[in-house]
Amino acid sequence: MSDRPASPTGQPPAGAPVPELAIVAAVASNGVIGVAGGLPWRLPDDLRRFRALTRGHAVIMGRRTWESLRGPLPDRQNIVVTSRADRASAGAEVVATLAEALARVAMPPPAFCIGGAELYREALPRARALHLTEIGRPFDGDVSFPAFARDEWREVARESHVASDGLRYAFVDYVRVRGA
Ligand SMILES: NC(=O)c1ccc[n+]([C@@H]2O[C@H](COP(=O)([O-])OP(=O)(O)OC[C@H]3O[C@@H](n4cnc5c(N)ncnc54)[C@H](OP(=O)(O)O)[C@@H]3O)[C@@H](O)[C@H]2O)c1
Repeated sequence: MSDRPASPTGQPPAGAPVPELAIVAAVASNGVIGVAGGLPWRLPDDLRRFRALTRGHAVIMGRRTWESLRGPLPDRQNIVVTSRADRASAGAEVVATLAEALARVAMPPPAFCIGGAELYREALPRARALHLTEIGRPFDGDVSFPAFARDEWREVARESHVASDGLRYAFVDYVRVRGA
């Protein structure tokens, strides 16, 4: 954990290197990522991939995503963004802005934005990599992954799978080729 102070504005100190940021998300074919504060599907393989990608790194999340977890994600630096950053949360560092979260990163790059929709929207313009689980059918839900400019990204890896219940999904990696 870092005790490196952010500036009083919550921005990284001037001249501080901005840590590399990646996004990891599972997205239905209609863009849905969540329902009623949780995930709309049960996909253990996706959780395994999420764990493998993020272990040993910082994970930055919005307050609602933090509340959807059973506690801090082990072996990761848990950073929660909320407008009520005065509230302590056991096992997580609580900050007021994404910039402040990035300034706190103390584990090796990349840092991962792990959602939800609100934080993805802010993280997308500064992310260098996208690790999506693209789920092959629509789901009902109340939060969606933000629209993003596909021409700013190049697909570099795709692994297609079918779950035991027939649900098709693919692990797809994109790297930024334009913007940010
Ligand atoms: N499929 C996936 O990969 C995936 C991943 C993650 C989450 N999810 C799902 O997404 C849903 C949660 O997403 P969500 O969009 O509702 O919430 P969220 O982004 O997790 O959290 C939103 C909250 O985070 C804080 N926040 C976000 N951006 C902020 C900023 N720039 N500055 C200050 N505070 C900020 C605010 O907290 P305060 O209100 O405390 O100020 C805001 O209300 C759940 O259903 C979850 O299961 C899905």
